[in-house]
Formats: sequence, structure tokens, C-alpha cells
Amino acid sequence: MAQPQIKFYYKNVTAEVIGPEHGLTDSDLKTLAEKTTPVIAELNHQRRAGKTPYRDLPFDLQTPMRVKELADRLKAGCDNLVVFGIGGSALGSIALQTALNPYMYNLDPGQRKGPRLFVFDNVDPVQLASFFDWLGDDGLQRTVFNVISKSGETAETAAQFMFIRQLLLDRLGPEALKNQIVATTDSKKGTLRKIVEEVGFQCLDIPDGVGGRFSVLSAVGLFSASLCGIDIDQLLAGAQDMDARVSCEDFYKNPAAVNAAINYYFYDHGKRISVMMPYSYALKDLADWYRQLWAESLGKAKDLSGNDVHVGPLPVRALGTTDQHSQVQLYREGPNDKLFTFLQVKDFQRNLKIGTAPDCAPVLKYLENAGFADLLNSEKTATEYALLMDKRPCLTVFFDRVNAYTIGQFIYLYEVTTSFAGALFEINPYDQPAVELGKKATFALMGRGGYEELAGRIQSVTGLDSRFLL
Ligand code: PA5
Repeated sequence: MAQPQIKFYYKNVTAEVIGPEHGLTDSDLKTLAEKTTPVIAELNHQRRAGKTPYRDLPFDLQTPMRVKELADRLKAGCDNLVVFGIGGSALGSIALQTALNPYMYNLDPGQRKGPRLFVFDNVDPVQLASFFDWLGDDGLQRTVFNVISKSGETAETAAQFMFIRQLLLDRLGPEALKNQIVATTDSKKGTLRKIVEEVGFQCLDIPDGVGGRFSVLSAVGLFSASLCGIDIDQLLAGAQDMDARVSCEDFYKNPAAVNAAINYYFYDHGKRISVMMPYSYALKDLADWYRQLWAESLGKAKDLSGNDVHVGPLPVRALGTTDQHSQVQLYREGPNDKLFTFLQVKDFQRNLKIGTAPDCAPVLKYLENAGFADLLNSEKTATEYALLMDKRPCLTVFFDRVNAYTIGQFIYLYEVTTSFAGALFEINPYDQPAVELGKKATFALMGRGGYEELAGRIQSVTGLDSRFLL
């Protein structure tokens, strides 16, 4: 049987639909095709030369084997899986869980095939304390902690690791460290790698050259997914399928190239905000994952030649229909500075029927016995129509169904779209120098040796000045 697919639809950004002042004309598209076609060849070349190792992840046979083996081994004693990580080391796991497991997964044992999953991508003591109060000593014994840090240096994850290490040592003894912690980190370097080697934790590797936000298809995302019953082989198969589509050297048939070119065009024409709006709760956190991928990859001060450019479309996550009642007023009548990408599901595989209307409310008859899926998709079309009437450009990614295969396709499509966009903006999408400064400043503020001078500079800039405190 043919696999379900995702399809990228772009008619509603064209001048044919929203007019020539705001829309893309045939001639604009032709110019974009000419500019982007050499980029396709260049990215294919970079990929063959091993410069974009994230693109090999769907074809890595060893990692899913190792991940499944470890997940199978740990499953029996595990009621809870806690992921500690941040940014690219957390958002993929959250997105996969929301997309591919039921909404009530954690609460209903009948709806889950693995342990409950909790992802902590913050160091808020109130949140953590509430969790550990709930967990108690019995729960602690039946919990696996997946500590994920590519660099092994990030303060938040290091703090979470130290906290759980102490707790396990105090409550359960040193054996618990070996049995209940799985570290996912760089295969060769970093502090977490060093600890793993000294203490002998169970460990999964993040391949060289795969940065956090491009790592969801490595052990970073695959381990929690596999332990929680997600079919990681299908996820990778979907990404493999998409690899063929985004490697196609015909611009007009390559969804990543066309998507990136359209995003680049609208940014260049004053639409510097990129709103992703899924009409499916399952896809909500995928839009959050995209937000990080797009922001951290494309928001850059310098271009590849070192010139100041300060470029970067602002990614915004909205959710249909929820944000129709929160954001759409602005989207329609505020500045025409946004490009919209809807995510729409054709077959939700579940459809609940709306009941009958009370006799006293004949005005509600129009909803009678309709399905919620039809209502949700009608609302998407209605919002899109309303935006188009105000000449706002709209893209849609259609999902035949939401399953591991189409989610694998989507993740890979957007990762490669990001590489294309980076090339069109002429910036390096794989680094994050601005985030690094914040990480170092945290080291300085928390008293790490070697950062004393930076701590002094931070104090002189950010120290409170009572003249401005009201
Ligand atoms: O995408 C990125 O590179 C970042 O968001 C990182 O994932 C994040 O800063 C966490 O880094 P690390 O995994 O090294 O702890």
C-alpha cells in the first residue's frame, strides 16, 4: 500500500490570488528558480562531501538498532522517562511525542505503549519541585533519566544532571546511576562524555557535525520516541523518502527549494515574520520545533563574507483554531508583513460527531451532526480565505495523515528548507554565536573559573541602577 504523504502547496502566495502588489508573479518565480537552481546543486555537493551530516541520519542503520535495544532493555522497569535537555536537545522529543502519541498518553495507561514522558527544558525550581514531589521515592526507582547535551557544557542540562545524580546517589545508591541514567552526547568530546566514560553510564552518541536543532532524527529524538512506542523506523523511512524529493535538481519539483525561495522572496519584500499555524493539536509542537530551527539557523549578524547583515525572518507559532480568537485580528488588519504557513491534515483518522441542536436554538442547526474534523478544516479554509481577502500570502503543508512516516517527511523537509534558506540569505545556518555568548555569560554569573573578567563586564552593564527603578 502506498505510504501517506505530505504535500507543499503555494498557489496562495501568487499574484494570481493576492494581486501583484503583494503576490509572487510568474516572473518573480522564474527569477527565484534561476537563483535557487545552483543552490540545489551546491547543497547536493556539500551533502556528498559530508558537510551536512544531519542529512545522513535517516540512512544510519546502527543508531536505531542501538536505540531500540536500549529501549527494550529499560522498558520493563520504567514507569517514567524524564528527558533533561534544552533547545535542540529537547524540542524534537516534545514534538514527536505530541505528534505521534495520544493527547492523554501520560494519564491513561490504556492509551500508551511505554512509560510516561516528561521533558524538562528549563531550570525552574517550582516546576522541578512539583515533579519530584509527585514522583516520590517509589516513582524514582522506576524512572529513567535521559540527559541530552551535544556539547555536554550547557549550564541548564549540567545542573539537571547534577541534581538527579545527587538524588539517585542519596536515595538509591551508586548502582542507580548506571541503571537509570542514559546520557546522549557528542561521541568524542565534552564534559558529559568525560563523565560517561569515567562513571560508565549508559550512553548514546550524537554524530559529529550534527548540531542540536538538526538532531531530532539522531539518538536525541529517537530514544524517547522509541521507548514511548513510536515507530522510529517509519519516522526515518519518511525522512528518506523526503530526501529524494529535496535533492531533486528541478527547482519546480523540489519542495524544500521552492519553500525556501518563497520565504526568502517575502522576507526581501518586507514580510519578515513567518507564522506557522497548524490546524491540528498533534502538530502544535512541531511548529515550536520549527520556530527554533528557523530562528537559530537564520538569525545572523554576518553573512558568509563577514559583512554585517543582521538578517532573519521572525518565526511565530500559532495554533488553529485557538489563535483565530487571539491573533487573526492582527494578522488580517495589522501590517502586511507576514508569510503564513498552515499545516492541514486531510484524514484525522478519528472524527467525533457534533450532537443535535436544542429546539430553542435553531440557529445552531448548521452544526448538527457535522464532524469536528470537518469543522476544524473548514475553519482553516475560512481563515485562509479571510487572509487572502486582505492580500496576505499563505502556504499550506498538507498531511494525508499524521503518522511517523509523514512526521519524518515534515522534519526532513524543514531541515533541508533551512539549509536552502541559509544559502539564499548567504549566512551560515549551522552556528549560533549569539546563543554561545549567553551560555558563557551564565558561566560567568555562576562563578565558573576563567570567566571573572566577563562577570565584571556583565555587572557593569546589567547591574540595577536605582534611578530607573519605579
Ligand atoms: O540547536 C542548538 O544548537 C541549540 O539549541 C542547542 O541544542 C542547545 O543550546 C543545547 O545545547 P547542548 O545540546 O549542547 O546542551
